[in-house]
Amino acid sequence: MLDKNLKPFPKDFFWGASTSAYQVEGANLSDGKGPSCQDVKELPAGTASLDICADHYHRFEEDIALMAEMGFKMYRFSIAWTRILPQGTGEVNQAGIDHYNKVIDCCLAHGIEPLVTMFHFDMPDALDQRGSWGNRESVDWFVEYAKVLFENFGDRVKYWLTINEQNMLTLVGPVIGTMHIPEGCTNVIKETYQQNHHMLLAQAKVMKMCHEMLPEAKIAPAPNISLVYPASCKPEDIQAAQEFNAMRNWIYLDMAVYGVYNNLIWRYLEEHDATPDIEPGDMDIMKAAHPDFIGFNYYNTSTVQKCPADFAAGDGKVDQQKGGAEAGYFMNVSNPNLPKTEFGWEIDPMGYRNTMREMYSRYHLPMITTENGLGAYDTLTEDGKVHDQYRIKYLRDHIEQLQLAISDGVEMMGYLPWSALDLVSTHEGIRKRYGFIYVDTTDEKVGTLDRYRKDSFYWYKKVIASNGADLSDLA
Ligand code: BG6
Repeated sequence: MLDKNLKPFPKDFFWGASTSAYQVEGANLSDGKGPSCQDVKELPAGTASLDICADHYHRFEEDIALMAEMGFKMYRFSIAWTRILPQGTGEVNQAGIDHYNKVIDCCLAHGIEPLVTMFHFDMPDALDQRGSWGNRESVDWFVEYAKVLFENFGDRVKYWLTINEQNMLTLVGPVIGTMHIPEGCTNVIKETYQQNHHMLLAQAKVMKMCHEMLPEAKIAPAPNISLVYPASCKPEDIQAAQEFNAMRNWIYLDMAVYGVYNNLIWRYLEEHDATPDIEPGDMDIMKAAHPDFIGFNYYNTSTVQKCPADFAAGDGKVDQQKGGAEAGYFMNVSNPNLPKTEFGWEIDPMGYRNTMREMYSRYHLPMITTENGLGAYDTLTEDGKVHDQYRIKYLRDHIEQLQLAISDGVEMMGYLPWSALDLVSTHEGIRKRYGFIYVDTTDEKVGTLDRYRKDSFYWYKKVIASNGADLSDLA
């Protein structure tokens, strides 16, 4: 493209940012909340515990006021299932309902549209004890929980996300503390994709129920989508990229949007004797469900080459955005054209545009970026400032690509980077900071929890005020 004649951001574009309950709220066993898988997991060495986090549970009013000061149009947060149903099913905890009523009302009072994620990596421990997503009853558990949410919050919440990063739950669940494989399991791939099938089914039922109960509301999945590049133009590397694209990205959206299993993944499952058990009627339910838009998290792209069939995986670090190999299919490799963050994630703003183009051409639905951001070590100066020019650069480079994608004709509803304020990362502690708002606490010691506006706070405020037209540095 010549990239002349850029289209402006739509006038009702949702600028804002995101958080998730277990990473930001703290108060993890207060006011009747039950434990989730995150509360009982073994913490990665040296990382903050999850009982305080950013203490957003007690300070949400101050935080939402700061978001309003930045000019947010939307705030994406998740509801902790275990605050609403401490045992996952059964008795409703009124204190949990009251809490989120206050959060939603606070957003609305500031003119901020709430975008609610129903499930963000925090399965109730009581349900994990009953077999988690491996138990087919999990479909009903999720539907029961969703119904409580729609009944209590549906009068004010117009935008919903079902399951955050189902693809990461499936691909790297153990790293983020979510996947439970029963002892003695003889086919881990089959168990994993059975769990995945139950999640897909639960999501389909909940999307349909949302449309029936709340005809004005809009609902979407929220996978983590990274376009996969081939490491070379060798035909076998192209195939490897197609296969990882199918496994990492398309299986989730093909099912959510079209109600079909991606054929390359189906072949992979057949080759491992791992196709999920599908009951009569399941596929009709999948086909009948439709998202209104697509939420997606984007951090970077992946690059793969063909992986030999006799490849034995080493102990290389694998997480949501790096590493991973499947013998006979693909092997992730470093992309020599891309710089990396301090935490080893590649940075690929142009890949963001490439990813949006590809998604839009496959699904033709409006889309919203529900996460994007830079995890970095920040320093609070003695006069209470955080000079995070590196984060401003990262965000600017991505917002520029977002506008280019809009100019390509991609329908984008909003941009909600990760994260509104500092919070505890999935497995690398609070030292890996993402927020516009600095929270005074560390992995080693709970601090004052005072909030400080980073330089990126003032910069993003200016971006929002100009509806994305002014991305220039702060004066
Ligand atoms: C996404 C998750 O995978 O990336 C968030 O939805 C997470 O929960 C974010 O925090 C950044 O990842 P990390 O591992 O740096 O916390």
